[in-house]
Amino acid sequence: MGDIDVEELDFPSAAETDQRALFDLQVAWWSSAMPPRELPEFSGWVRRRLTLDAGWGLPRFAVARENGRIIGYADGYLPTTANTHLVTGTVVVDPRWQRQGIGTTLLRYALRLANRDTAEASWVPRGSEGERWATNRGFTVVTALTVQELVLTDSLPEVGEVPPGYRLAQWTGRAPEALLDAYVDALNATNDQPMGDSTIELVEYTREQVRQEEDDLSTAGVDVWVVLAMHGDEAAGVTVVYRTLSRPSVAHQRNTSVVPAHRGKGLGRLIKAQMLRQLTGIEIIETETNSTNEHMRRINHSLGYTDRLTTVSLSARVADLKL
Ligand SMILES: CC(C)(COP(=O)(O)OP(=O)(O)OC[C@H]1O[C@@H](n2cnc3c(N)ncnc32)[C@H](O)[C@@H]1OP(=O)(O)O)[C@@H](O)C(=O)NCCC(=O)NCCS
Repeated sequence: MGDIDVEELDFPSAAETDQRALFDLQVAWWSSAMPPRELPEFSGWVRRRLTLDAGWGLPRFAVARENGRIIGYADGYLPTTANTHLVTGTVVVDPRWQRQGIGTTLLRYALRLANRDTAEASWVPRGSEGERWATNRGFTVVTALTVQELVLTDSLPEVGEVPPGYRLAQWTGRAPEALLDAYVDALNATNDQPMGDSTIELVEYTREQVRQEEDDLSTAGVDVWVVLAMHGDEAAGVTVVYRTLSRPSVAHQRNTSVVPAHRGKGLGRLIKAQMLRQLTGIEIIETETNSTNEHMRRINHSLGYTDRLTTVSLSARVADLKL
């Protein structure tokens, strides 16, 4: 490879041309795997990268430059509280500069900076060049996610009857204080979702963390919608949706969970159907579900979601990688 420099890039203080180069590389890569119905918008994309992700911090970047111009990057999150054994991220190289060792150099450099025992990558389209490249370097596929999409139309799916003994609560932004404990309990019921052989440990939420996350999202201007199913004074299930900062007409489905004692009563579908009636200014919802999670995929299909893409997550002990 010719005159290529690899260095760390401090994203928040980076020049706009550098931020834009990262945006262009990421969008070109992702669009080739899943052509978007609405192209992401640069300033929203930047704001998302400056928004803290609870427990995961802000993304770090290493970049490869040719004559100053960014032609590839490695990005990664270094979780600070739980999951301190791992770095999770991706490597992307401009197609015109692939197969010259730049991706491998970026990976080596980024992993040295990260100084963690385990590396994971997710959102890699199954069967892609990226998956082959990572497995050739010693990564193993640990799980697969199906990306599903629902185009909202005028005829939304029926919500159906709320089963006796249950009621639905809903809000945007901050949870009402009286429902906060139930909300936290419902969020924590997501932690038995299938994760394959990923080493990512799902962390229990606390009241303080939920409030902190609400504040961070509100500061960043992310709209949040929540539907919570209650049984008496107790949480039965919850579903959470965010508006995507870089594509304001697209919503992203976050946690959906039904507390184990309340499963098998159709609550999962019910709260997701109710959610569709709450959203404003949204045309498309995207969600990703573990490909082995038949229940959730079936619920989504019954609401009209279609499968768009399967992605894999890969994992490796850094010491075992061939770099
Ligand atoms: C995955 C990706 C980052 C690899 O980038 P890259 O710069 O082409 O990576 P490298 O050049 O280091 O390696 C690619 C191949 O070229 C080979 N190669 C390296 N130097 C070479 C050279 N001078 N001449 C010919 N081939 C070369 C490598 O051996 C490797 O082949 P192998 O996997 O069969 O061993 C790139 O394909 C990409 O951006 N894909 C889209 C993003 C993505 O899917 N990322 C997921 C990974 S986390």
